[in-house]
Amino acid sequence: MKVVLFGPPGAGKGTQAKSICNRYSIPHISTGDIFRKNISENTPLGIEAKKYIDNGQLVPDEVTINMVKDRLQAEDCKLGYLLDGFPRTVHQANALEEFLYDRKESLDTALLIQVPSEFILERMTGRRVCPSCGASYHVKFNPTKIESKCDVCGSDIIQRKDDSEETVKERLAVYERQTQPLIEYYKDKDLLSVVDGTKAINEVFESICKILGSE
Ligand code: AP5
Ligand code: MG
Ligand code: ZN
Repeated sequence: MKVVLFGPPGAGKGTQAKSICNRYSIPHISTGDIFRKNISENTPLGIEAKKYIDNGQLVPDEVTINMVKDRLQAEDCKLGYLLDGFPRTVHQANALEEFLYDRKESLDTALLIQVPSEFILERMTGRRVCPSCGASYHVKFNPTKIESKCDVCGSDIIQRKDDSEETVKERLAVYERQTQPLIEYYKDKDLLSVVDGTKAINEVFESICKILGSE
């Protein structure tokens, strides 16, 4: 199963991705997580990406596309994967399509988690994340079982640097300008599915499972 998950910042992509990948046994490929790992390890890719991420801008397409192509060639992607936060521009979507076409493969679904912008700020400012395994929590909507410790791996959870109010507003504007055109793009290809991301986390997951089926 090959799935693209997209939606505005804070839509719940990371949260749902964890459950989807568990349920369907496919790898979770989050471009945001890969960039953050590179930033924490101070790699050349991380140093480059940080300049954009800290300001809420997209990392340039060529950098992102090459990184994803590399990742998709790994052994664990043979039976499918979930892409979280990629593609984010029409150019990236075309690059993914070419990559798949060359390998005689295709996407199953492009899943949009739809959440209106008035929900986003509270979600982002209350978010806490695990720097080790990428799990996402919320102080009010999805707290950890033990205060400040990741439920999955026990690491200390942190607040993301780009979750400040000012940067979130910029990320939203970038989403509207650069990523929203993908809705039409995937609709035209008959690949678009939409879930209402304002519902509770488990309800959103149920809707997603109905779309993805019992594969
Ligand atoms: P990325 O890490 O992908 O950030 P994003 O798209 O802004 O999305 P988020 O991770 O902030 O939100 P999410 O949808 O995963 O929500 P979550 O599940 O955590 O990208 C970061 C940066 O990297 C970008 O700005 C860009 O610079 C760069 N980048 C990444 N990909 C790129 C690409 N392809 N091209 C170029 N640059 C790229 O949930 C949010 C909060 O809400 C959590 O606290 C959660 O607990 C809570 N929550 C979730 N669901 C619900 C619910 N149903 N009800 C109540 N609360 C909920
Ligand atoms: Mg995320
Ligand atoms: Zn963790």
